Amino acid sequence: MSRAPSVTAAQVMALMVTACASPQNALDPQGPSAARVEDLWWVFFVMGVGVSVVVSLLLLLAIRRSRQREQGRDSKEINGTALVWIGAGVLTPIILFALLIYSYRIGTEVYPPVDDDSETLTVEVVGHQYWWEVRYPQHGLVSANEVYIPAGRRVRFLVTGRDVIHSFWVPQLQGKIDMIPGHTTRLWVQADEPGRFRGQCAEYCGVSHALMALWVIAVPEDEFTAWLERSRQVQPEPDDEEVRHGREVFFAAGCDMCHATRGAPLPPELEGAGPDLTHLASRSTLAAGTLPNTRGSLAGWIADPKGIKPDARMPPTHLPSEQLRALLTYLESLR
Ligand code: CUA
Repeated sequence: MSRAPSVTAAQVMALMVTACASPQNALDPQGPSAARVEDLWWVFFVMGVGVSVVVSLLLLLAIRRSRQREQGRDSKEINGTALVWIGAGVLTPIILFALLIYSYRIGTEVYPPVDDDSETLTVEVVGHQYWWEVRYPQHGLVSANEVYIPAGRRVRFLVTGRDVIHSFWVPQLQGKIDMIPGHTTRLWVQADEPGRFRGQCAEYCGVSHALMALWVIAVPEDEFTAWLERSRQVQPEPDDEEVRHGREVFFAAGCDMCHATRGAPLPPELEGAGPDLTHLASRSTLAAGTLPNTRGSLAGWIADPKGIKPDARMPPTHLPSEQLRALLTYLESLR
Protein backbone atom coordinates (compact mmCIF):
# COMPACT_ATOMS: atom_id res chain seq x y z
CA MET A 1 0.00 0.00 0.00
CA SER A 2 2.74 2.48 0.90
CA ARG A 3 4.70 1.69 -2.27
CA ALA A 4 2.65 3.68 -4.74
CA PRO A 5 2.89 7.03 -2.91
CA SER A 6 6.65 6.68 -2.41
CA VAL A 7 7.19 6.03 -6.13
CA THR A 8 5.08 9.08 -6.94
CA ALA A 9 7.05 11.20 -4.48
CA ALA A 10 10.32 10.00 -6.03
CA GLN A 11 9.03 10.87 -9.49
CA VAL A 12 7.97 14.33 -8.34
CA MET A 13 11.40 14.87 -6.76
CA ALA A 14 13.12 13.70 -9.97
CA LEU A 15 10.96 16.10 -11.98
CA MET A 16 11.81 18.98 -9.68
CA VAL A 17 15.54 18.24 -9.83
CA THR A 18 15.55 18.04 -13.65
CA ALA A 19 13.45 21.23 -13.81
CA CYS A 20 16.13 23.02 -11.76
CA ALA A 21 18.79 22.02 -14.28
CA SER A 22 16.64 23.01 -17.27
CA PRO A 23 17.38 26.16 -19.28
CA GLN A 24 13.72 27.10 -18.89
CA ASN A 25 13.42 27.26 -15.14
CA ALA A 26 11.15 30.05 -13.91
CA LEU A 27 12.51 29.47 -10.40
CA ASP A 28 16.01 30.42 -11.55
CA PRO A 29 15.39 34.06 -12.55
CA GLN A 30 18.15 35.97 -14.32
CA GLY A 31 16.53 39.39 -14.43
CA PRO A 32 14.34 41.68 -12.30
CA SER A 33 11.00 40.90 -14.02
CA ALA A 34 11.54 37.14 -13.69
CA ALA A 35 12.61 37.66 -10.06
CA ARG A 36 9.30 39.41 -9.31
CA VAL A 37 7.41 36.59 -11.03
CA GLU A 38 9.34 34.13 -8.88
CA ASP A 39 8.37 36.10 -5.72
CA LEU A 40 4.76 35.87 -6.82
CA TRP A 41 5.11 32.13 -7.38
CA TRP A 42 6.51 31.56 -3.89
CA VAL A 43 3.86 33.71 -2.19
CA PHE A 44 1.07 31.79 -3.98
CA PHE A 45 2.79 28.48 -3.25
CA VAL A 46 3.21 29.20 0.47
CA MET A 47 -0.35 30.54 0.78
CA GLY A 48 -1.73 27.54 -1.13
CA VAL A 49 0.16 25.05 1.01
CA GLY A 50 -0.79 26.95 4.20
CA VAL A 51 -4.50 26.96 3.35
CA SER A 52 -4.40 23.27 2.34
CA VAL A 53 -2.72 22.28 5.62
CA VAL A 54 -5.18 24.29 7.76
CA VAL A 55 -8.21 22.95 5.86
CA SER A 56 -6.91 19.35 6.08
CA LEU A 57 -6.32 19.69 9.85
CA LEU A 58 -9.83 21.11 10.36
CA LEU A 59 -11.27 18.25 8.32
CA LEU A 60 -9.43 15.66 10.44
CA LEU A 61 -10.62 17.44 13.58
CA ALA A 62 -14.22 17.37 12.36
CA ILE A 63 -14.01 13.63 11.58
CA ARG A 64 -12.54 12.95 15.01
CA ARG A 65 -15.24 14.97 16.80
CA SER A 66 -18.03 13.35 14.86
CA ARG A 67 -16.71 9.90 15.89
CA GLN A 68 -16.46 11.02 19.51
CA ARG A 69 -20.03 12.33 19.41
CA GLU A 70 -21.30 9.06 17.96
CA GLN A 71 -19.69 7.28 20.88
CA GLY A 72 -21.19 9.85 23.28
CA ARG A 73 -17.75 11.01 24.41
CA ASP A 74 -18.20 14.63 23.26
CA SER A 75 -21.24 16.66 24.10
CA LYS A 76 -19.70 20.14 23.62
CA GLU A 77 -21.88 22.28 21.31
CA ILE A 78 -20.09 24.32 18.61
CA ASN A 79 -21.81 26.89 16.42
CA GLY A 80 -20.85 25.32 13.06
CA THR A 81 -22.76 27.82 10.94
CA ALA A 82 -20.79 30.73 12.40
CA LEU A 83 -17.50 28.93 11.66
CA VAL A 84 -18.54 28.31 8.05
CA TRP A 85 -19.43 31.99 7.66
CA ILE A 86 -16.11 33.11 9.12
CA GLY A 87 -14.19 30.73 6.86
CA ALA A 88 -16.09 31.21 3.63
CA GLY A 89 -17.35 34.75 4.06
CA VAL A 90 -14.46 36.47 5.81
CA LEU A 91 -11.14 34.60 5.67
CA THR A 92 -11.41 33.40 2.05
CA PRO A 93 -12.19 36.85 0.57
CA ILE A 94 -9.42 38.44 2.69
CA ILE A 95 -6.85 35.91 1.46
CA LEU A 96 -7.99 36.11 -2.19
CA PHE A 97 -8.13 39.91 -2.11
CA ALA A 98 -4.62 40.13 -0.60
CA LEU A 99 -3.27 37.83 -3.34
CA LEU A 100 -5.10 39.86 -6.00
CA ILE A 101 -3.56 43.14 -4.79
CA TYR A 102 -0.12 41.55 -4.58
CA SER A 103 -0.28 40.09 -8.09
CA TYR A 104 -1.61 43.40 -9.46
CA ARG A 105 1.35 45.23 -7.90
CA ILE A 106 3.79 42.79 -9.51
CA GLY A 107 1.97 43.22 -12.82
CA THR A 108 2.54 46.99 -12.71
CA GLU A 109 6.26 46.37 -12.14
CA VAL A 110 6.86 43.91 -14.97
CA TYR A 111 4.80 45.68 -17.65
CA PRO A 112 5.80 49.16 -18.84
CA PRO A 113 3.13 51.89 -18.71
CA VAL A 114 1.23 52.42 -21.96
CA ASP A 115 2.32 56.08 -22.22
CA ASP A 116 6.00 55.18 -21.93
CA ASP A 117 7.45 56.68 -25.09
CA SER A 118 10.96 57.05 -23.80
CA GLU A 119 14.13 56.34 -25.70
CA THR A 120 14.30 52.90 -24.08
CA LEU A 121 15.55 50.23 -26.47
CA THR A 122 12.48 48.61 -28.00
CA VAL A 123 12.25 45.14 -29.52
CA GLU A 124 9.14 43.97 -31.33
CA VAL A 125 8.52 40.23 -31.41
CA VAL A 126 5.81 38.85 -33.69
CA GLY A 127 4.65 35.25 -33.35
CA HIS A 128 4.08 33.33 -36.59
CA GLN A 129 3.23 29.68 -37.23
CA TYR A 130 5.97 28.55 -36.22
CA TRP A 131 8.69 31.14 -35.86
CA TRP A 132 9.45 34.51 -34.32
CA GLU A 133 9.89 37.75 -36.22
CA VAL A 134 12.20 40.12 -34.35
CA ARG A 135 12.34 43.86 -35.09
CA TYR A 136 14.38 46.72 -33.72
CA PRO A 137 12.23 49.66 -34.92
CA GLN A 138 14.62 52.33 -33.60
CA HIS A 139 17.43 50.83 -35.65
CA GLY A 140 15.58 49.64 -38.76
CA LEU A 141 16.68 46.06 -38.16
CA VAL A 142 14.75 42.85 -38.74
CA SER A 143 15.79 39.38 -37.64
CA ALA A 144 14.23 36.10 -36.57
CA ASN A 145 14.25 33.51 -33.80
CA GLU A 146 17.16 35.07 -31.88
CA VAL A 147 16.85 38.29 -29.91
CA TYR A 148 20.00 40.18 -28.98
CA ILE A 149 19.74 42.51 -26.01
CA PRO A 150 22.33 44.38 -23.95
CA ALA A 151 22.87 42.77 -20.53
CA GLY A 152 22.07 44.82 -17.44
CA ARG A 153 19.68 47.17 -19.25
CA ARG A 154 15.91 47.22 -19.24
CA VAL A 155 14.50 46.59 -22.72
CA ARG A 156 10.91 47.23 -23.74
CA PHE A 157 9.39 44.30 -25.63
CA LEU A 158 6.27 44.76 -27.72
CA VAL A 159 4.76 41.40 -28.59
CA THR A 160 1.93 40.45 -30.90
CA GLY A 161 0.79 37.56 -33.12
CA ARG A 162 0.43 37.51 -36.89
CA ASP A 163 -1.86 34.54 -37.53
CA VAL A 164 -3.10 32.83 -34.35
CA ILE A 165 -2.46 33.39 -30.65
CA HIS A 166 1.06 32.43 -29.57
CA SER A 167 2.66 33.00 -26.19
CA PHE A 168 6.02 34.62 -25.50
CA TRP A 169 7.73 32.85 -22.64
CA VAL A 170 11.37 33.14 -21.66
CA PRO A 171 11.07 31.81 -18.08
CA GLN A 172 14.40 33.10 -16.79
CA LEU A 173 13.65 36.65 -17.96
CA GLN A 174 9.89 37.22 -17.86
CA GLY A 175 6.50 35.75 -17.17
CA LYS A 176 4.37 34.10 -19.83
CA ILE A 177 2.40 36.47 -22.05
CA ASP A 178 -0.02 35.82 -24.92
CA MET A 179 0.79 37.24 -28.36
CA ILE A 180 -2.60 38.23 -29.68
CA PRO A 181 -3.16 39.19 -33.34
CA GLY A 182 -4.26 42.82 -33.57
CA HIS A 183 -3.14 43.62 -30.04
CA THR A 184 0.28 44.65 -28.78
CA THR A 185 1.36 43.74 -25.26
CA ARG A 186 4.29 45.51 -23.57
CA LEU A 187 6.71 43.99 -21.13
CA TRP A 188 10.04 44.73 -19.54
CA VAL A 189 12.81 42.28 -20.24
CA GLN A 190 16.18 42.54 -18.57
CA ALA A 191 18.99 40.04 -18.20
CA ASP A 192 21.29 40.93 -15.32
CA GLU A 193 24.27 39.11 -16.80
CA PRO A 194 25.30 38.12 -20.33
CA GLY A 195 23.96 34.72 -21.32
CA ARG A 196 21.67 32.72 -23.58
CA PHE A 197 18.10 32.27 -22.41
CA ARG A 198 15.79 29.77 -24.04
CA GLY A 199 12.19 30.68 -24.70
CA GLN A 200 9.27 28.62 -25.94
CA CYS A 201 5.86 29.34 -27.40
CA ALA A 202 3.53 28.56 -24.54
CA GLU A 203 0.15 28.68 -26.27
CA TYR A 204 -0.96 25.83 -28.50
CA CYS A 205 -0.84 27.34 -31.98
CA GLY A 206 -0.88 24.33 -34.32
CA VAL A 207 0.74 20.97 -34.83
CA SER A 208 4.29 22.33 -34.65
CA HIS A 209 3.66 24.44 -31.54
CA ALA A 210 6.26 22.44 -29.63
CA LEU A 211 8.84 23.24 -32.33
CA MET A 212 8.63 26.98 -31.76
CA ALA A 213 11.54 27.99 -29.58
CA LEU A 214 13.61 31.16 -29.45
CA TRP A 215 16.77 32.37 -27.82
CA VAL A 216 17.29 35.67 -26.09
CA ILE A 217 21.00 36.43 -26.15
CA ALA A 218 22.22 39.03 -23.68
CA VAL A 219 25.65 40.46 -24.45
CA PRO A 220 27.76 43.19 -22.82
CA GLU A 221 26.88 46.74 -23.86
CA ASP A 222 29.88 47.24 -26.18
CA GLU A 223 29.26 43.90 -27.86
CA PHE A 224 25.63 44.86 -28.40
CA THR A 225 26.68 48.15 -30.03
CA ALA A 226 29.07 46.22 -32.27
CA TRP A 227 26.30 43.73 -33.12
CA LEU A 228 23.95 46.59 -34.08
CA GLU A 229 26.67 48.13 -36.24
CA ARG A 230 27.43 44.82 -37.95
CA SER A 231 23.76 44.02 -38.49
CA ARG A 232 23.15 47.35 -40.17
CA GLN A 233 25.84 46.81 -42.78
CA VAL A 234 24.75 45.93 -46.28
CA GLN A 235 25.92 42.53 -47.50
CA PRO A 236 29.06 43.13 -49.60
CA GLU A 237 29.02 42.03 -53.24
CA PRO A 238 30.24 38.41 -53.13
CA ASP A 239 33.70 37.92 -54.62
CA ASP A 240 33.36 34.13 -54.54
CA GLU A 241 32.02 32.52 -57.71
CA GLU A 242 30.06 29.81 -55.82
CA VAL A 243 28.42 32.39 -53.51
CA ARG A 244 27.42 34.49 -56.51
CA HIS A 245 25.94 31.43 -58.19
CA GLY A 246 24.13 30.50 -54.95
CA ARG A 247 22.59 33.93 -54.79
CA GLU A 248 21.28 33.51 -58.33
CA VAL A 249 19.76 30.16 -57.31
CA PHE A 250 18.18 31.86 -54.26
CA PHE A 251 16.28 34.25 -56.53
CA ALA A 252 15.62 31.76 -59.34
CA ALA A 253 14.11 29.19 -56.94
CA GLY A 254 11.81 31.85 -55.51
CA CYS A 255 13.27 31.89 -51.98
CA ASP A 256 13.09 35.69 -52.15
CA MET A 257 9.28 35.53 -52.36
CA CYS A 258 9.12 34.86 -48.61
CA HIS A 259 12.61 35.56 -47.27
CA ALA A 260 14.00 39.07 -47.25
CA THR A 261 17.71 39.73 -47.14
CA ARG A 262 19.29 43.14 -46.60
CA GLY A 263 19.15 44.87 -49.98
CA ALA A 264 16.35 42.59 -51.24
CA PRO A 265 13.33 43.48 -49.11
CA LEU A 266 9.91 41.92 -49.61
CA PRO A 267 7.03 43.99 -50.99
CA PRO A 268 4.98 45.38 -48.06
CA GLU A 269 2.13 42.89 -48.56
CA LEU A 270 4.54 39.96 -48.17
CA GLU A 271 6.48 41.34 -45.21
CA GLY A 272 6.89 38.72 -42.53
CA ALA A 273 5.97 35.84 -44.88
CA GLY A 274 9.13 34.04 -43.76
CA PRO A 275 12.12 34.74 -41.52
CA ASP A 276 14.55 37.45 -42.65
CA LEU A 277 17.73 35.68 -43.73
CA THR A 278 20.20 38.60 -43.78
CA HIS A 279 22.21 37.10 -40.89
CA LEU A 280 21.07 33.49 -41.13
CA ALA A 281 24.57 32.05 -40.81
CA SER A 282 25.18 33.85 -37.51
CA ARG A 283 22.24 32.11 -35.83
CA SER A 284 22.82 29.00 -33.76
CA THR A 285 19.67 27.15 -34.83
CA LEU A 286 17.34 26.76 -37.81
CA ALA A 287 13.55 26.64 -37.95
CA ALA A 288 13.05 28.35 -34.55
CA GLY A 289 15.27 26.16 -32.42
CA THR A 290 14.39 22.92 -34.21
CA LEU A 291 17.75 22.10 -35.86
CA PRO A 292 21.37 23.06 -35.25
CA ASN A 293 22.51 25.54 -37.89
CA THR A 294 24.77 23.25 -39.90
CA ARG A 295 25.17 22.77 -43.65
CA GLY A 296 23.59 19.32 -43.41
CA SER A 297 20.48 20.36 -41.54
CA LEU A 298 20.09 23.41 -43.78
CA ALA A 299 20.09 21.09 -46.82
CA GLY A 300 17.56 18.79 -45.15
CA TRP A 301 15.35 21.73 -44.22
CA ILE A 302 15.33 23.14 -47.78
CA ALA A 303 14.47 19.71 -49.24
CA ASP A 304 11.74 18.75 -46.76
CA PRO A 305 10.63 21.42 -44.27
CA LYS A 306 7.30 19.74 -43.49
CA GLY A 307 9.00 16.42 -42.79
CA ILE A 308 11.01 18.17 -40.08
CA LYS A 309 8.31 20.55 -38.92
CA PRO A 310 4.76 19.45 -39.79
CA ASP A 311 2.50 22.21 -41.12
CA ALA A 312 5.47 24.56 -41.68
CA ARG A 313 4.51 27.18 -44.27
CA MET A 314 7.69 26.65 -46.28
CA PRO A 315 7.28 24.46 -49.38
CA PRO A 316 9.93 21.85 -50.23
CA THR A 317 12.51 22.92 -52.82
CA HIS A 318 14.12 20.27 -54.95
CA LEU A 319 17.28 21.42 -56.69
CA PRO A 320 19.97 19.67 -58.73
CA SER A 321 22.84 18.93 -56.33
CA GLU A 322 25.17 21.47 -57.93
CA GLN A 323 22.58 24.25 -57.42
CA LEU A 324 21.82 23.11 -53.86
CA ARG A 325 25.53 23.20 -53.00
CA ALA A 326 25.81 26.74 -54.33
CA LEU A 327 22.66 27.84 -52.49
CA LEU A 328 24.01 26.38 -49.21
CA THR A 329 27.32 28.19 -49.73
CA TYR A 330 25.45 31.44 -50.34
CA LEU A 331 23.26 30.98 -47.22
CA GLU A 332 26.35 30.16 -45.18
CA SER A 333 27.89 33.44 -46.30
CA LEU A 334 25.04 35.45 -44.74
CA ARG A 335 26.81 36.42 -41.55
CU1 CUA B 1 3.27 29.41 -31.34
CU2 CUA B 1 2.54 27.71 -29.90
